[in-house]
Amino acid sequence: MATAESTSAPACTHAPKPGCDAATATAKFPKLAPLIAYLGSLKGRADLSVLSNLLAGLNLTLDDLKPALCFGNCSYKRNTIAESPHFELLALCWRSGHCTPIHNHVGSSCAFRVVHGAPTEIRFKMTPSGLACPIQTTQMEAGFVCSAEDDDIHQVANLEPPGTDAVTLHIYSPPPAHWKTFNGPVSDGPDRT
Ligand SMILES: [Fe+2]
Repeated sequence: MATAESTSAPACTHAPKPGCDAATATAKFPKLAPLIAYLGSLKGRADLSVLSNLLAGLNLTLDDLKPALCFGNCSYKRNTIAESPHFELLALCWRSGHCTPIHNHVGSSCAFRVVHGAPTEIRFKMTPSGLACPIQTTQMEAGFVCSAEDDDIHQVANLEPPGTDAVTLHIYSPPPAHWKTFNGPVSDGPDRT
């Protein structure tokens, strides 16, 4: 269970980071050129099914994302490939035990493809108690495309043993500005069950 109390993610400034414009990204990631061209043409929020289909149609290996493969020590690492006010394209790198907060996707279409490893998605639903309850767990293989939008609540984690990394390619459209994260339950101490 997770508490329904939440905090809004900080608003994104949407200012492209250096080296994350479409032309530079296309040169660094040629396999992603058609995807970057589509995303760069967006004037508003992308349709989730379109994003999912684009990701499903990619022929992508880990090597194709090499310039974006940077891992964090304590948490999963978000590596921006390209962005605009209407989208973010990122490679997320996960060591064993790394996980996102439980979060929704208010105002955005979000889809990602597993490029390497076998990360797990945990889906939640809100209950009348105000707690979010896990309802489905899916371990994803390379090539799997996961999608979520608006009130969809989930958490993504690399539950594989130490030494087993995961890499995922994510699209957010628009970049998250109104998503909420959900805190875990609070206990007073040793009498918890
Ligand atoms: Fe998500």
